[in-house]
Amino acid sequence: MSSIEKSNTYLFGDRSINRLGYGAMQLAGPGVFGPPKDTDAALAVLREAVASGVNHIDTSDFYGPHITNQLIHQALAPYSDDLLIVTKIGASRGADGAWFPATSKQDLTQAVHDNLRNLGLDVLEVVNLRSMFSIHGPAEGSIEAPLTALAELQQQGLVRHIGLSNVTPTQVAEGRRIVPIVCVQNHYNLAHRGDDALIDELADAGIAYVPFFPLGGFQPLQSAALSQIAARLKATPMQVALAWLLQRSPNILLIPGTSSVAHLRENLASARLELTDDVIEALDNIAGRVEVAAAS
Ligand SMILES: NC(=O)c1ccc[n+]([C@@H]2O[C@H](COP(=O)([O-])OP(=O)(O)OC[C@H]3O[C@@H](n4cnc5c(N)ncnc54)[C@H](OP(=O)(O)O)[C@@H]3O)[C@@H](O)[C@H]2O)c1
Repeated sequence: MSSIEKSNTYLFGDRSINRLGYGAMQLAGPGVFGPPKDTDAALAVLREAVASGVNHIDTSDFYGPHITNQLIHQALAPYSDDLLIVTKIGASRGADGAWFPATSKQDLTQAVHDNLRNLGLDVLEVVNLRSMFSIHGPAEGSIEAPLTALAELQQQGLVRHIGLSNVTPTQVAEGRRIVPIVCVQNHYNLAHRGDDALIDELADAGIAYVPFFPLGGFQPLQSAALSQIAARLKATPMQVALAWLLQRSPNILLIPGTSSVAHLRENLASARLELTDDVIEALDNIAGRVEVAAAS
Protein backbone atom coordinates (compact mmCIF):
# COMPACT_ATOMS: atom_id res chain seq x y z
CA MET A 1 0.00 0.00 0.00
CA SER A 2 1.43 3.42 -0.91
CA SER A 3 1.73 6.01 1.83
CA ILE A 4 -1.22 8.11 0.69
CA GLU A 5 -3.64 5.17 0.57
CA LYS A 6 -3.24 4.87 4.34
CA SER A 7 -5.29 8.09 4.54
CA ASN A 8 -8.32 6.03 3.37
CA THR A 9 -10.91 7.20 0.89
CA TYR A 10 -14.08 9.29 0.95
CA LEU A 11 -17.01 9.45 -1.45
CA PHE A 12 -16.82 13.07 -2.62
CA GLY A 13 -19.76 13.88 -4.89
CA ASP A 14 -19.80 10.59 -6.78
CA ARG A 15 -16.01 10.04 -6.74
CA SER A 16 -14.05 7.96 -4.28
CA ILE A 17 -10.90 9.95 -3.47
CA ASN A 18 -7.95 9.64 -1.13
CA ARG A 19 -8.52 11.78 1.97
CA LEU A 20 -5.07 13.30 1.57
CA GLY A 21 -5.04 15.65 -1.42
CA TYR A 22 -3.20 18.79 -2.50
CA GLY A 23 -4.04 22.51 -2.50
CA ALA A 24 -2.55 24.40 -5.45
CA MET A 25 -2.79 27.99 -4.14
CA GLN A 26 0.90 28.20 -3.18
CA LEU A 27 1.96 27.63 -6.79
CA ALA A 28 1.25 31.20 -7.94
CA GLY A 29 3.63 34.07 -7.19
CA PRO A 30 3.91 35.93 -3.85
CA GLY A 31 0.51 36.94 -2.48
CA VAL A 32 -1.11 34.32 -4.76
CA PHE A 33 -0.53 36.79 -7.58
CA GLY A 34 1.41 36.51 -10.81
CA PRO A 35 3.57 33.66 -12.04
CA PRO A 36 5.64 31.37 -9.80
CA LYS A 37 9.31 32.12 -9.22
CA ASP A 38 10.15 28.82 -10.89
CA THR A 39 7.57 27.41 -13.31
CA ASP A 40 9.36 24.07 -13.72
CA ALA A 41 9.37 23.60 -9.95
CA ALA A 42 5.63 24.31 -9.79
CA LEU A 43 4.94 21.80 -12.57
CA ALA A 44 7.14 19.26 -10.77
CA VAL A 45 5.09 19.60 -7.54
CA LEU A 46 1.85 18.90 -9.42
CA ARG A 47 3.28 15.91 -11.28
CA GLU A 48 4.83 14.48 -8.12
CA ALA A 49 1.50 14.87 -6.26
CA VAL A 50 -0.41 12.86 -8.86
CA ALA A 51 2.39 10.30 -9.24
CA SER A 52 2.22 9.79 -5.46
CA GLY A 53 -1.50 8.98 -5.60
CA VAL A 54 -3.10 12.39 -5.01
CA ASN A 55 -6.45 12.36 -6.79
CA HIS A 56 -7.97 15.51 -5.28
CA ILE A 57 -6.53 18.91 -6.19
CA ASP A 58 -8.02 22.15 -4.91
CA THR A 59 -7.64 25.31 -6.99
CA SER A 60 -9.31 28.49 -8.22
CA ASP A 61 -9.08 30.66 -11.29
CA PHE A 62 -8.52 33.63 -8.97
CA TYR A 63 -5.13 32.15 -7.95
CA GLY A 64 -2.69 34.06 -10.12
CA PRO A 65 -5.33 34.91 -11.45
CA HIS A 66 -5.63 32.15 -14.11
CA ILE A 67 -2.01 31.06 -13.63
CA THR A 68 -2.54 28.23 -11.15
CA ASN A 69 -5.21 26.62 -13.32
CA GLN A 70 -2.99 26.99 -16.39
CA LEU A 71 -0.15 25.27 -14.50
CA ILE A 72 -2.47 22.40 -13.55
CA HIS A 73 -3.51 22.05 -17.19
CA GLN A 74 0.07 22.17 -18.43
CA ALA A 75 1.34 19.67 -15.86
CA LEU A 76 -1.47 17.15 -15.81
CA ALA A 77 -3.61 17.18 -18.99
CA PRO A 78 -4.83 14.87 -20.35
CA TYR A 79 -6.19 14.22 -16.88
CA SER A 80 -6.48 10.72 -15.51
CA ASP A 81 -10.10 9.63 -15.02
CA ASP A 82 -9.74 9.40 -11.26
CA LEU A 83 -8.41 12.95 -10.76
CA LEU A 84 -10.91 15.26 -9.04
CA ILE A 85 -10.17 18.96 -9.54
CA VAL A 86 -12.19 21.16 -7.19
CA THR A 87 -12.37 24.88 -7.83
CA LYS A 88 -13.98 27.91 -6.23
CA ILE A 89 -15.61 31.09 -7.46
CA GLY A 90 -16.87 34.28 -5.84
CA ALA A 91 -13.80 36.54 -5.89
CA SER A 92 -11.76 38.47 -8.40
CA ARG A 93 -8.36 40.17 -8.35
CA GLY A 94 -7.36 43.76 -8.93
CA ALA A 95 -4.38 44.85 -11.01
CA ASP A 96 -2.36 45.03 -7.76
CA GLY A 97 -3.47 41.61 -6.53
CA ALA A 98 -6.23 42.92 -4.23
CA TRP A 99 -9.17 40.56 -3.60
CA PHE A 100 -12.74 41.66 -4.42
CA PRO A 101 -16.12 39.97 -4.08
CA ALA A 102 -17.40 38.81 -7.49
CA THR A 103 -20.73 37.16 -6.78
CA SER A 104 -23.16 38.62 -9.31
CA LYS A 105 -24.74 36.17 -11.75
CA GLN A 106 -22.54 37.60 -14.49
CA ASP A 107 -19.38 37.31 -12.34
CA LEU A 108 -20.13 33.70 -11.46
CA THR A 109 -20.93 32.71 -15.04
CA GLN A 110 -17.69 34.32 -16.19
CA ALA A 111 -15.76 32.54 -13.42
CA VAL A 112 -17.15 29.12 -14.37
CA HIS A 113 -16.16 29.69 -18.00
CA ASP A 114 -12.69 30.96 -16.97
CA ASN A 115 -12.15 27.81 -14.90
CA LEU A 116 -13.34 25.55 -17.73
CA ARG A 117 -11.06 27.26 -20.26
CA ASN A 118 -7.94 27.48 -18.12
CA LEU A 119 -8.25 23.95 -16.74
CA GLY A 120 -9.17 22.57 -20.18
CA LEU A 121 -12.34 20.86 -18.94
CA ASP A 122 -15.88 20.51 -20.38
CA VAL A 123 -17.47 20.31 -16.95
CA LEU A 124 -16.30 21.32 -13.46
CA GLU A 125 -16.70 18.39 -11.07
CA VAL A 126 -17.04 20.43 -7.83
CA VAL A 127 -17.35 24.22 -7.54
CA ASN A 128 -17.26 25.94 -4.16
CA LEU A 129 -19.08 29.24 -3.80
CA ARG A 130 -16.69 31.40 -1.72
CA SER A 131 -18.75 33.69 0.50
CA MET A 132 -17.27 37.18 0.50
CA PHE A 133 -19.24 39.14 3.13
CA SER A 134 -15.79 39.28 4.72
CA ILE A 135 -12.66 38.11 2.96
CA HIS A 136 -11.00 37.20 6.26
CA GLY A 137 -13.55 34.79 7.67
CA PRO A 138 -17.19 33.72 7.67
CA ALA A 139 -19.68 36.57 8.14
CA GLU A 140 -23.46 36.38 8.13
CA GLY A 141 -25.55 37.35 5.10
CA SER A 142 -27.82 35.51 2.69
CA ILE A 143 -26.09 33.43 -0.01
CA GLU A 144 -29.37 32.75 -1.81
CA ALA A 145 -28.74 34.93 -4.89
CA PRO A 146 -25.22 33.70 -5.80
CA LEU A 147 -26.02 30.09 -4.90
CA THR A 148 -29.15 30.15 -7.06
CA ALA A 149 -27.04 31.50 -9.93
CA LEU A 150 -24.50 28.68 -9.43
CA ALA A 151 -27.33 26.11 -9.29
CA GLU A 152 -28.49 27.39 -12.69
CA LEU A 153 -24.99 26.80 -14.10
CA GLN A 154 -25.21 23.30 -12.64
CA GLN A 155 -28.56 22.76 -14.41
CA GLN A 156 -26.88 23.85 -17.66
CA GLY A 157 -24.41 20.97 -17.19
CA LEU A 158 -21.32 23.13 -16.60
CA VAL A 159 -20.94 22.11 -12.95
CA ARG A 160 -21.54 18.66 -11.46
CA HIS A 161 -21.50 19.31 -7.69
CA ILE A 162 -21.65 22.40 -5.48
CA GLY A 163 -19.83 23.26 -2.26
CA LEU A 164 -19.57 26.28 0.01
CA SER A 165 -16.53 28.09 1.38
CA ASN A 166 -15.89 30.62 4.14
CA VAL A 167 -19.40 30.13 5.46
CA THR A 168 -21.25 30.12 8.78
CA PRO A 169 -23.46 27.23 9.96
CA THR A 170 -26.49 29.44 9.16
CA GLN A 171 -25.29 29.84 5.57
CA VAL A 172 -24.66 26.09 5.28
CA ALA A 173 -28.25 25.45 6.39
CA GLU A 174 -29.55 28.08 3.94
CA GLY A 175 -27.45 26.58 1.14
CA ARG A 176 -28.71 23.04 1.77
CA ARG A 177 -32.30 24.28 1.39
CA ILE A 178 -31.43 25.65 -2.08
CA VAL A 179 -29.28 22.90 -3.63
CA PRO A 180 -27.45 19.70 -2.53
CA ILE A 181 -24.10 20.67 -0.96
CA VAL A 182 -21.23 18.15 -1.19
CA CYS A 183 -18.58 19.99 0.81
CA VAL A 184 -17.76 22.92 3.05
CA GLN A 185 -14.29 24.48 2.80
CA ASN A 186 -13.48 26.67 5.81
CA HIS A 187 -10.44 27.75 7.84
CA TYR A 188 -9.70 24.99 10.38
CA ASN A 189 -6.60 23.41 11.89
CA LEU A 190 -5.16 22.25 15.20
CA ALA A 191 -5.19 25.81 16.52
CA HIS A 192 -8.28 27.21 14.83
CA ARG A 193 -11.21 25.05 15.85
CA GLY A 194 -14.27 27.25 15.52
CA ASP A 195 -15.97 24.70 13.24
CA ASP A 196 -15.83 21.71 15.60
CA ALA A 197 -19.62 21.43 15.92
CA LEU A 198 -20.17 22.09 12.20
CA ILE A 199 -17.73 19.31 11.25
CA ASP A 200 -19.66 16.78 13.34
CA GLU A 201 -22.98 17.95 11.89
CA LEU A 202 -21.64 17.64 8.32
CA ALA A 203 -20.19 14.19 9.06
CA ASP A 204 -23.67 13.03 10.10
CA ALA A 205 -25.10 14.47 6.87
CA GLY A 206 -22.46 12.80 4.64
CA ILE A 207 -20.97 16.15 3.61
CA ALA A 208 -17.20 16.55 3.25
CA TYR A 209 -15.37 19.16 5.33
CA VAL A 210 -12.20 20.48 3.65
CA PRO A 211 -10.12 22.63 5.99
CA PHE A 212 -8.17 25.39 4.34
CA PHE A 213 -4.96 26.53 6.06
CA PRO A 214 -4.57 22.97 7.48
CA LEU A 215 -0.95 23.81 8.32
CA GLY A 216 -1.73 27.34 9.49
CA GLY A 217 -1.63 29.06 6.09
CA PHE A 218 0.96 31.60 5.01
CA GLN A 219 2.82 31.23 8.32
CA PRO A 220 2.73 27.55 9.30
CA LEU A 221 1.73 26.55 12.85
CA GLN A 222 4.41 26.99 15.51
CA SER A 223 4.25 25.53 18.97
CA ALA A 224 6.86 24.14 21.32
CA ALA A 225 4.38 21.51 22.51
CA LEU A 226 3.59 20.44 18.94
CA SER A 227 7.32 20.19 18.19
CA GLN A 228 7.90 18.07 21.32
CA ILE A 229 5.10 15.68 20.40
CA ALA A 230 6.42 15.45 16.83
CA ALA A 231 9.96 14.71 18.03
CA ARG A 232 8.62 11.94 20.28
CA LEU A 233 6.82 10.41 17.29
CA LYS A 234 9.89 10.83 15.03
CA ALA A 235 7.73 12.96 12.74
CA THR A 236 7.63 16.64 11.84
CA PRO A 237 5.17 19.15 13.37
CA MET A 238 3.43 19.53 9.99
CA GLN A 239 2.96 15.75 9.73
CA VAL A 240 1.45 15.64 13.21
CA ALA A 241 -0.89 18.55 12.39
CA LEU A 242 -2.12 16.70 9.27
CA ALA A 243 -2.41 13.33 11.02
CA TRP A 244 -4.48 15.00 13.75
CA LEU A 245 -6.88 16.34 11.10
CA LEU A 246 -7.17 12.93 9.43
CA GLN A 247 -8.10 11.38 12.77
CA ARG A 248 -10.39 14.26 13.81
CA SER A 249 -13.30 13.12 11.62
CA PRO A 250 -13.73 10.73 8.64
CA ASN A 251 -15.38 13.46 6.53
CA ILE A 252 -12.28 15.69 6.69
CA LEU A 253 -10.41 15.83 3.36
CA LEU A 254 -6.94 17.41 3.38
CA ILE A 255 -5.54 19.85 0.83
CA PRO A 256 -2.22 21.03 2.33
CA GLY A 257 -0.52 23.55 0.06
CA THR A 258 3.13 23.70 -0.86
CA SER A 259 5.39 24.91 -3.63
CA SER A 260 8.08 22.41 -2.68
CA VAL A 261 8.44 18.76 -3.68
CA ALA A 262 10.24 18.04 -0.39
CA HIS A 263 7.36 19.49 1.65
CA LEU A 264 4.85 17.65 -0.53
CA ARG A 265 6.58 14.31 0.21
CA GLU A 266 6.71 15.15 3.91
CA ASN A 267 3.02 16.05 3.97
CA LEU A 268 1.88 12.96 2.07
CA ALA A 269 3.85 10.74 4.45
CA SER A 270 1.63 11.99 7.31
CA ALA A 271 -0.97 9.41 6.25
CA ARG A 272 1.25 6.73 7.80
CA LEU A 273 1.23 8.40 11.21
CA GLU A 274 -1.23 6.91 13.67
CA LEU A 275 -1.87 9.01 16.75
CA THR A 276 -2.76 7.24 19.97
CA ASP A 277 -5.54 8.54 22.21
CA ASP A 278 -3.07 10.11 24.66
CA VAL A 279 -1.30 11.98 21.84
CA ILE A 280 -4.64 13.25 20.51
CA GLU A 281 -5.56 14.42 23.99
CA ALA A 282 -2.23 16.27 24.31
CA LEU A 283 -2.78 17.88 20.89
CA ASP A 284 -6.34 18.87 21.83
CA ASN A 285 -4.92 20.55 24.94
CA ILE A 286 -2.43 22.69 23.04
CA ALA A 287 -5.03 24.03 20.60
CA GLY A 288 -5.34 27.40 22.30
CA ARG A 289 -1.59 27.82 22.70
CA VAL A 290 -0.43 27.46 19.10
CA GLU A 291 0.59 30.62 17.29
CA VAL A 292 -1.35 31.04 14.08
CA ALA A 293 -1.12 33.40 11.18
CA ALA A 294 -4.09 35.69 10.70
CA ALA A 295 -6.43 34.37 8.04
CA SER A 296 -5.92 35.99 4.70
N1 LIG B 1 -11.54 28.68 0.38
C1 LIG B 1 -10.66 29.58 0.76
O1 LIG B 1 -10.99 30.72 1.07
C2 LIG B 1 -9.22 29.20 0.83
C3 LIG B 1 -8.29 30.06 1.47
C4 LIG B 1 -6.97 29.65 1.54
C5 LIG B 1 -6.57 28.45 0.99
N2 LIG B 1 -7.47 27.63 0.36
C6 LIG B 1 -7.07 26.31 -0.19
O2 LIG B 1 -6.48 25.56 0.85
C7 LIG B 1 -5.21 25.07 0.43
C8 LIG B 1 -4.30 24.95 1.62
O3 LIG B 1 -4.09 26.22 2.21
P1 LIG B 1 -2.68 26.98 2.16
O4 LIG B 1 -1.80 26.39 1.14
O5 LIG B 1 -2.99 28.42 2.09
O6 LIG B 1 -2.14 26.75 3.63
P2 LIG B 1 -1.49 25.50 4.38
O7 LIG B 1 -1.66 24.26 3.60
O8 LIG B 1 -1.97 25.55 5.77
O9 LIG B 1 0.05 25.92 4.45
C9 LIG B 1 0.81 26.28 3.35
C10 LIG B 1 2.08 26.90 3.89
O10 LIG B 1 2.80 25.92 4.62
C11 LIG B 1 4.09 25.73 4.04
N3 LIG B 1 4.35 24.29 4.10
C12 LIG B 1 3.69 23.31 3.46
N4 LIG B 1 4.17 22.11 3.81
C13 LIG B 1 5.15 22.34 4.70
C14 LIG B 1 6.03 21.50 5.42
N5 LIG B 1 5.98 20.17 5.30
N6 LIG B 1 6.94 22.08 6.26
C15 LIG B 1 6.98 23.42 6.40
N7 LIG B 1 6.17 24.28 5.75
C16 LIG B 1 5.28 23.73 4.90
C17 LIG B 1 4.00 26.25 2.63
O11 LIG B 1 5.24 26.75 2.21
P3 LIG B 1 6.10 26.01 1.06
O12 LIG B 1 5.47 26.38 -0.25
O13 LIG B 1 7.46 26.56 1.25
O14 LIG B 1 6.03 24.53 1.34
C18 LIG B 1 2.99 27.39 2.81
O15 LIG B 1 3.65 28.54 3.29
C19 LIG B 1 -4.76 26.06 -0.63
O16 LIG B 1 -3.79 25.51 -1.49
C20 LIG B 1 -6.06 26.40 -1.32
O17 LIG B 1 -6.32 25.43 -2.31
C21 LIG B 1 -8.79 27.99 0.29
